[in-house]
Amino acid sequence: MQNKYYLTTPIYYVNAAPHIGHAYTTIVADLVKRFKTMQGYRAVLTTGSDEHGVNVERAAQRAGKTSKEYCDVIAAEFERQWQQLGLKIDHFQRTTSPQHARVVQDLFERCRKNGYIYKGAYTGQYCIHDNLYVNDAKPGDPCPDCGRPTETVTEENFFFKLSGFAERLLDLYDREPKFIQPETRRNEVIAFVKQGLNDLSITRSNIKWGIPVEGEAPHVFYVWFDALSAYMSAVEGEGLWPADLHLIGKEIVRFHAIYWPAFLMAAGIELPKRIFAHGWLLFEESKMSKSRGNIVRPEPIRRVMGVDALRYFLLREVVFGQDGSFSYDALVGRYNSDLANGLGNLASRTLTMIRQYDAGAVPAGVGAPAIAEQARQTVANVTAAFEEFEFSKGLEAVWALLSATDKYIVEQAPWTLLKKGDAGRKALDDTLYTAAEVVRIAAVLLAPVLPESTAKIWAQLGMTEALEAVRVDQLAWGQLPAGQRIGEVAPVFPRIDAKVAIPEMRALEEEEAARQAALLGKTVAPAPAAEVSPHISIDDFAKVDLRVARVLAAEPVKGATKLLKLTIDVAEAEPRTLVAGIAEVYQPEQLIGRKVVIVANLEPRKLRGITSNGMIVAASIEGGKPVLAGFLEDVPVGARLK
Ligand code: MSP
Repeated sequence: MQNKYYLTTPIYYVNAAPHIGHAYTTIVADLVKRFKTMQGYRAVLTTGSDEHGVNVERAAQRAGKTSKEYCDVIAAEFERQWQQLGLKIDHFQRTTSPQHARVVQDLFERCRKNGYIYKGAYTGQYCIHDNLYVNDAKPGDPCPDCGRPTETVTEENFFFKLSGFAERLLDLYDREPKFIQPETRRNEVIAFVKQGLNDLSITRSNIKWGIPVEGEAPHVFYVWFDALSAYMSAVEGEGLWPADLHLIGKEIVRFHAIYWPAFLMAAGIELPKRIFAHGWLLFEESKMSKSRGNIVRPEPIRRVMGVDALRYFLLREVVFGQDGSFSYDALVGRYNSDLANGLGNLASRTLTMIRQYDAGAVPAGVGAPAIAEQARQTVANVTAAFEEFEFSKGLEAVWALLSATDKYIVEQAPWTLLKKGDAGRKALDDTLYTAAEVVRIAAVLLAPVLPESTAKIWAQLGMTEALEAVRVDQLAWGQLPAGQRIGEVAPVFPRIDAKVAIPEMRALEEEEAARQAALLGKTVAPAPAAEVSPHISIDDFAKVDLRVARVLAAEPVKGATKLLKLTIDVAEAEPRTLVAGIAEVYQPEQLIGRKVVIVANLEPRKLRGITSNGMIVAASIEGGKPVLAGFLEDVPVGARLK
């Protein structure tokens, strides 16, 4: 009987198209699934889309679609994205599926039957953007997550008796120390629960776009009761529950580590085994998120550098569990140093020498004892590290083996050995066997992380068994058959020139952004019949000093979702600072170097503590979205518009 391993990612909100923050969790889940499969488990992965709530209702309205139409488009975009990235997803669960609704209703009925549900009045602050009730907030207080003002709501709802679960939850955390990982998150949750828990309102009567509470119209389930159930509904009847792992980002740890086990305990359902909450991917120093406008999409990276480059970067550069920064420079840097120079170089060098010195057949050599020993250790260390989600540590161990092998090859100097008679021939065979065996072992260990490129290396080594079917738990030194003919040798990681690749990715990023905006119906709508203001004289117009300027730097303004702080060159002695309300449409890096038109003689004014010297000129299209004015011909900075 094959053991099962069931794991999940969050089911993502459909109010934004996927970015590499979402890809991060999903890629790690794919890695864990591949790794577990290679350990002999029947590993099953669920992801999906979280489609209910006011936010989605509103986004759909803005896009001129019904909620369902809107969700269909975005859910399909997420699915497409995961397919393009080659992720091995078994279930893409949508919360709008009828089967999911039944599971949610059933969970509710079980909790109700067991006495954990009652009707009560709720008044409180709510952030519609994050679907978050903000406890202890006063009217007008900002949402702790996104900074937008919360709204006060009062309504009669169904409540879940969360207050009765504090002791049982603390017992659980105590009994199962790995239930919440990493340790920092576990401590946070324990401290929170120790303060005591309030009951939780789990339905809404003022939202239409939700799963109905049977026989209790107009109540619909509130997002978390609905969303968390997707983990179960996705695999209903498959004998996979309980989940072995919920992978999530750290901002939703409370929902997973407190609400979810409490709902399940109340319903008498088995609890998931582990929750691992990773850190945030930052871009330009803040959390990558659609509302901040600082997102990077996976598709341009895949197209220019390949999906393995992204996977490697995310897993090696960021310590899993902690926050980490994304930058194109670091992405290309890591690729060139570790993949092109490290792994790629060792593989192609080894295989080329086997072609050259052994007519393309693996020589019958004896592995160098020190390298063989290090390889054995590496298999054990990588397995242990991956078990504990210490991916960067595991990768470091593989790279230590690769560099020890590089060093060994240099010391052996195979190119000199042929001249040294029989002893030289034997030493050459030993050297090349050792190097090829390291390449094989590295390919197996790295297969979950770099599936595309390790499959290429595998084929070049002449292996015929599917790499994915190799058992990592049976991986041992010396399994490479001598005499095996190697395949066609070609570079797996060609070097990448940052000066070419980065602008290419940036350009594709803009294309992707435009494509996704169009998908959401956010295409530039025809201007509404414009109300033209009364006539002014030419002298009135002449008072407005319109100038061409170039953006030198751009950054988001803390706490303001619409504003960007720009440093611009207007051909004056000093660059100017200007604050522009364009952050929802333009990303800072898109603007750098761009020529814009400004009103240069507008009275300076202070916005969020920053003095804005002038105003940027943009067309205002439907929905109030700005489109920056620009020129088709090249125009010098400082030129006046007349
Ligand atoms: N719909 C809820 C989850 C319900 S699960 C039952 C939700 N959706 S979300 O679209 O906001 O996705 C949040 C998750 O996406 C994070 O928990 C994380 O897995 C991933 N990430 C989104 N942005 C991220 C970063 N900038 N960095 C790291 N992970 C990110 O919350």
